[in-house]
Amino acid sequence: MKILIIHGPNLNLLGLREPEIYGAMNLDEVNSEICKKAETANLKSTCRQSNHEGEIIDWLQSAAGENFSGIIINPAAYTHTSIAIRDTIAAIKPPVIEVHLSNISNREEFRHKSLTAAVCSGSICGFGVNSYLIALEALRLLLAP
Ligand code: DQA
Repeated sequence: MKILIIHGPNLNLLGLREPEIYGAMNLDEVNSEICKKAETANLKSTCRQSNHEGEIIDWLQSAAGENFSGIIINPAAYTHTSIAIRDTIAAIKPPVIEVHLSNISNREEFRHKSLTAAVCSGSICGFGVNSYLIALEALRLLLAP
């Protein structure tokens, strides 16, 4: 089964960007952890990152046509602002799990609200890179209970 992982804006700066919040691993290292975990679960992972809302929307819309069975997304700051990404998640067939490295509920108030979580199958936040690994396991259970 193919799984699409989408990293939103500024996640290309992982490792450099506020490491006390987001951890010391860079995006390639995070993707390699995701890929390893996916292999052990018999899933094939494809990781993409974009700083552009429209590109993220295009990837979500084309996921079913590209034969992805499920999607893990960290919409990053778009979590708190993007009605467009929310509408796309609501419109598409494959299940979507939202993840965050940090615990958005114990940070600044503007991060407490996720516009996207309610249209996802579930959300996982606060566990650093493990948020993605837990989401992979959740998706595996969801797709093949
Ligand atoms: C984030 C949390 C968001 O509030 C922030 O804008 C990010 C990263 C996280 O993974 O913790 O860019 O999604």
